Amino acid sequence: MARMIASYSTATPAGPRTVRKAVVPAAGLGTRFLPATKATPKEMLPVVDKPAVQYVVEEAAAAGLDDILMVTGRHKRAIEDHFDHAFELEQALASKGDTVRLDAVRDPARLAAIHHIRQGDPLGLGHAVLCARHHVGNQPFAVLLGDDLIDPRETLLSRMLEVRERYAGSVVALTEVAPEQVHLYGCAAVEPVGEEGVVRVTGLVEKPAREAAPSRYAVIGRYVLDPAVFDVLERTPPGRGGEIQLTDALQDLATDGTVHGVVFDGLRYDTGDKADYLRTVVRLACARPDLGPGFADWLREFVRELEDGARGTRKGRRAA
Ligand code: G1P
Repeated sequence: MARMIASYSTATPAGPRTVRKAVVPAAGLGTRFLPATKATPKEMLPVVDKPAVQYVVEEAAAAGLDDILMVTGRHKRAIEDHFDHAFELEQALASKGDTVRLDAVRDPARLAAIHHIRQGDPLGLGHAVLCARHHVGNQPFAVLLGDDLIDPRETLLSRMLEVRERYAGSVVALTEVAPEQVHLYGCAAVEPVGEEGVVRVTGLVEKPAREAAPSRYAVIGRYVLDPAVFDVLERTPPGRGGEIQLTDALQDLATDGTVHGVVFDGLRYDTGDKADYLRTVVRLACARPDLGPGFADWLREFVRELEDGARGTRKGRRAA
């Protein structure tokens, strides 16, 4: 674990954390990526050479969280297998002395204690979080949504944990989006608390129409939640789309002034969106010391070809 985290993240968990557990909802059907997701969970789609969900687990581990609960559904066995040992593969690589690949195979299982639970009925994000109640118990916990991939060089989750330590209650991650994008997110009404990059959340609306949005602050897929959210979720009726919405439960908590927001303007990718998924792969490939330099050279040349109108089909050139 240390090897991968050290090369990818500057996040250093400072001192003991009161938050140890993370919940990763991963029960969605992934319909935006069909047919690729017909037999493969969307969380397992590769981003360079690791499945998207591994980045999320690495992010949690880099922020000091060592217990991760995946809330999955049917057809998600591949996620369980990925974070487990692969005895035969490990044996084969060990006997060849291929320690680099052996580490790559072993790393996912070393990141944290990873648990799995099934959501059963797909009743919404709020319901997925409620499924974690028994495992989490009466302690604050993080929630990381797999479609939002935060660049491994960012330290958003550590900042959120630190804000939770100082303000208690729950903490959401907010990013300013264009008015025409607000309807894709939970949207927050906020007021200042006198600290740069931190706000108090006074209200939340799930996916409002542009005219009804209280601000341009969108909730992105990172939360640090007080266990009080569970009681609220128990009584939260289905909301937008007929689903039990986490945003609605947080709106309830926000009325007590116990929800804060950390404003994030760093690198974030929506791997649930095809075009953004491609951008994610390109960006993270360019950032890799082993692949980046050569790939970036190819990319520059490819862009020149596009500009020339040659579209990579110049005579004698191998389609890479
Ligand atoms: C979920 C939440 C939404 C949040 C978004 C962030 O929506 O319900 O409030 O803004 O994640 O990615 P989803 O994108 O799962 O529809």
